[in-house]
Amino acid sequence: MATADVRADRDALVEMITGAWKTRVIGEGVRFGIFDLLTNGAKSADSLAKAVGVDEDGIKRLLRGLAVLGLLRHEPDDCFALTPLGACLRRETPDSLNGFAGHWAGRMWESFAGIGHSFQTGEASAPSGPEHFVSVQADPAQSDVFNRAMAEGSLRIGRALAKSYDFSGIARLRDVGGGYGALLVGPLEANPHLAGDIYDLPSLADNALRYLSEQGLDGRVDYLGGSFFDHVPPGADCLLLKYILHDWNDAKCLTILQHCRVALGKGRLLIIERIVPDTVSEKDVEVIRGDLTMLTVGGKERTEADYHSLLGQAGLVISRILPIDGVFSLIEARVA
Ligand SMILES: C[S@@+](CC[C@H](N)C(=O)[O-])C[C@H]1O[C@@H](n2cnc3c(N)ncnc32)[C@H](O)[C@@H]1O
Repeated sequence: MATADVRADRDALVEMITGAWKTRVIGEGVRFGIFDLLTNGAKSADSLAKAVGVDEDGIKRLLRGLAVLGLLRHEPDDCFALTPLGACLRRETPDSLNGFAGHWAGRMWESFAGIGHSFQTGEASAPSGPEHFVSVQADPAQSDVFNRAMAEGSLRIGRALAKSYDFSGIARLRDVGGGYGALLVGPLEANPHLAGDIYDLPSLADNALRYLSEQGLDGRVDYLGGSFFDHVPPGADCLLLKYILHDWNDAKCLTILQHCRVALGKGRLLIIERIVPDTVSEKDVEVIRGDLTMLTVGGKERTEADYHSLLGQAGLVISRILPIDGVFSLIEARVA
């Protein structure tokens, strides 16, 4: 191999080995609100330090870190401006990744710190389980970061779903474990006849309805508080389950799916997850990153065969599997 290739490979490896700093620096930029503070133009490190209420030298070094990542532009006189990439980290921008960045620098950071234990034992190493979810969602700060992170991705995926799936025969769409219900936005925007509701833990109700009102869906979505480990209420002819089954082990998934089956009657269940291929390569980085993340909390990403088996045990049958939005799959199922 030529010297230049060896050098490039080595540099690529160094980037992988040291990748953790980027998660933290981006997350701290988001936590201090740097990207929002720069919305109306460049500011000096000094004025940003005053606006945030932190040490000037510390913030200047953070700003330089964000600049070398291409998220800010370092201008003369220690001024910093947003780049187009950094603008995606503003809280209110369409397609924002602000919540996602906070989620990775917070909860995910802690999860990955203990992943060695999960590799050794195959068990969760981070705080997890039904009660843990209840406590995260009851804590306003943690809940806001988590639910915005989920909503940022689900808004995009819901719009892709609306383009690839025919909702004309459905009257009421329920997002089970729907969080802020961002997945409903695309289908409801594209199908004026559709009504929607969210079934999730009671503590999210106000924030979810506020989010949907900001998305222009005032009055079209109801919020039903409850636990899918207790039951799933009837009344919707289509249930959505996105990023729910991957949170849990097979036994917990079976409980959720059996409750969905009871609620479904003649309706259909749409599961949205990333499916693990039988053999993986570099193109599967997203699904495998998801699987490792889920390993730390006792969940998993599954293969197509895993889904056939799990749904079969719950008395459901898969009618088809469609690709949506690149790496996601839509698994359509009915009562067997
Ligand atoms: C990974 S998030 C997915 C959120 C949403 N489906 C999405 O993809 O954007 C898991 C969701 O399950 C909800 N959840 C956790 N335990 C629950 C329970 N026992 N009953 C109902 N929802 C629950 C959480 O509150 C959270 O909104």
